Amino acid sequence: MDVKGLHDRIKARYSLESSAQGGLGCGHNLSLLALRSGERVLDLGCGRGQETLEAAKLVGEGGLAVGLDLTPEMVRAAVERAAVEGCVNVRFVVGDMERLPFPPESFDAVMSNCAINHARDKSMVYREVHRVLKTGGRFVISDPVTRYPLPHKIKRDPYRWAMCFGGAVTEQEYLQCIREAGFRRVEIINRREYLKNGYEFASLTIRAFKEG
Ligand SMILES: C[S@@+](CC[C@H](N)C(=O)[O-])C[C@H]1O[C@@H](n2cnc3c(N)ncnc32)[C@H](O)[C@@H]1O
Repeated sequence: MDVKGLHDRIKARYSLESSAQGGLGCGHNLSLLALRSGERVLDLGCGRGQETLEAAKLVGEGGLAVGLDLTPEMVRAAVERAAVEGCVNVRFVVGDMERLPFPPESFDAVMSNCAINHARDKSMVYREVHRVLKTGGRFVISDPVTRYPLPHKIKRDPYRWAMCFGGAVTEQEYLQCIREAGFRRVEIINRREYLKNGYEFASLTIRAFKEG
């Protein structure tokens, strides 16, 4: 699928949602991430930044929370929210999670809530997460997966990818991307099964570590 067409469709959806209230996630990752004072944490596909800001509070002023999102309107909304809350240890960046604009070993922890399913190349995303994590670092990520592969006509449709639907891969394929990126101690902490447009889905919350 053409990346530009896909990204335009994703931005079209989420620019409309940038002024809505509430989170758009499919899991509860923050407590599972067990952030400590002084840590640096990255939130991929941060949306309006609600969880990024919560993470910033947990790591305190000696730490840093960075939210990255493809949709400029989402990042703008997150920056405004940070200003209203007077949060000084948070940064928001417009970017693509398949090409992270950070040097290797920049973060202690990575989180992401219902965003990686939108990426065309999930293996690339997990390789990037591995690259920017410090040795010993961890991620907690929630994302939808399917029980069976989706039909090609759905996978080729950018509109359905933008709806947290067409980009979902099977659980096996998803976990393989994580393991092949080099992560160890990969663990499914939570699973919620549901039907979407007649297809069997599960929302997984996964934790894994970058070992030395
Ligand atoms: C379902 S929303 C989740 C937002 C937020 N994590 C939350 O829980 O409210 C998915 C977000 O992922 C972002 N996104 C989609 N593809 C992306 C990509 N390739 N790189 C970075 N962000 C992306 C979208 O712009 C959107 O804000």
